Amino acid sequence: MPRPGAAPLLCLLQLLSLLEPPAADSLLQLPAPQNVTIYSNNYQNLLRWAPVKLDNGSVLYTVQSRTGADNRWVEMNCTNITKTECNFTHPDNKSYWTITLRVRAELGQVKSDWVETNKFVADQNTIIGPPVIVNVDSTPDSLFLSFLPPVNKNTLQYLVRYWEKSTNEQHETQWTKNTRTGLLNLKQLTVYCFQIRAKVQVLLNENIGPLSETYCHKTAASDATRAGFVVVIFVVATVTVVILAIVCFLFTQKFNQVVKYWFQPPFNIPEHIKEYLKDPDMPVLEELQNNCAEEDLWDSLSVVSNAEGSQTLIRGTLNTNVHSDSRSIESEKT
Ligand SMILES: *[C@@H]1O[C@H](CO)[C@@H](O)[C@H](O)[C@H]1NC(C)=O
Ligand SMILES: *[C@@H]1O[C@H](CO)[C@@H](O)[C@H](O)[C@H]1NC(C)=O
Ligand SMILES: *[C@@H]1O[C@H](CO)[C@@H](O)[C@H](O)[C@H]1NC(C)=O
Ligand SMILES: *[C@@H]1O[C@H](CO)[C@@H](O)[C@H](O)[C@H]1NC(C)=O
Ligand SMILES: *[C@@H]1O[C@H](CO)[C@@H](O)[C@H](O)[C@H]1NC(C)=O
Ligand SMILES: *[C@@H]1O[C@H](CO)[C@@H](O)[C@H](O)[C@H]1NC(C)=O
Repeated sequence: MPRPGAAPLLCLLQLLSLLEPPAADSLLQLPAPQNVTIYSNNYQNLLRWAPVKLDNGSVLYTVQSRTGADNRWVEMNCTNITKTECNFTHPDNKSYWTITLRVRAELGQVKSDWVETNKFVADQNTIIGPPVIVNVDSTPDSLFLSFLPPVNKNTLQYLVRYWEKSTNEQHETQWTKNTRTGLLNLKQLTVYCFQIRAKVQVLLNENIGPLSETYCHKTAASDATRAGFVVVIFVVATVTVVILAIVCFLFTQKFNQVVKYWFQPPFNIPEHIKEYLKDPDMPVLEELQNNCAEEDLWDSLSVVSNAEGSQTLIRGTLNTNVHSDSRSIESEKT
């Protein structure tokens, strides 16, 4: 037997639900996080998602994971968190595990649906490297690069791509486990550019990392070239010294007069010339200068002329001696 008034109440409820259906829905169910993405570089694993925005109250998030081996979902250290990221970096010896993550938003007892990620295997999906170059040694025909391993993995290998800067013909080294690798058979005094990348071996697969930024370095000069430089430097130095010597010589010649002045006692002008100089038109000054110039000339010539004079003098006396001797011999003969 239907109760009176039940039908209108039902009607009212239907009307209410028609009037405000979104509000009722949002209380029962939160929107799920969007753009749920895994970022992994060098085995540092991060799950990130876009925040769920509500008018009131702060939404919390919970992340769970499960591995390929065990199908149960397990809590991580990301339960009831307010941040929109979860660091799920795990120990090295689990990096080959296949892992799936899921995240949901929570507001009190109201929860969103779980959003699941794709399967993730750190060994295969993490971005390896690139290694950081810490040193470049150059020889005339090679460059030796030293770099840091980007992660602590014993299956790491490295490869270098390189080219002469002026051309673009690229070469690649072999994969090597050594953190010091040589680019060989290069030209001397030439700029080479290179990029480096690392990879890890994962069972039968390999995870090859991206190339590093481009570094450039110049090869050294060969011994022959260096010897050439030394010769050139030596010649330049010698020429410089000679030029300097000549300049010094000319300098001392030019200022000979000045030098001489400093080494001579002060020159006193005799009284009668002083009076003469007081005369407004003084031809004496010119005369004095001429005298000085002549004196200089005489100075430099005097030694030579003295020597020649003495030689002719000696020769003259010798001749007279010989003459007188021969004359005396002749007189003895007669
Ligand atoms: C999700 O990512 C897309 C593309 O990157 C962007 O347009 C969108 O706004 C993001 N959604 C949220 C809720 O941030
Ligand atoms: C958000 O607002 C609704 C209605 O206004 C209220 O019932 C609910 O308790 C609020 N939630 C929080 C976390 O404050
Ligand atoms: C959670 O954090 C604690 C300490 O911060 C750490 O000992 C534990 O290993 C972490 N658990 C997981 C699953 O990361
Ligand atoms: C997370 O929040 C829920 C509800 O608020 C609570 O029942 C649970 O114990 C919390 N878990 C942790 C690990 O804090
Ligand atoms: C994630 O956790 C690892 C290990 O605990 C730590 O080394 C790393 O810095 C963390 N990364 C971020 C982005 O917090
Ligand atoms: C690797 O796994 C072994 C056992 O499975 C464990 O004893 C060891 O602590 C793990 N290594 C790390 C770095 O977690």
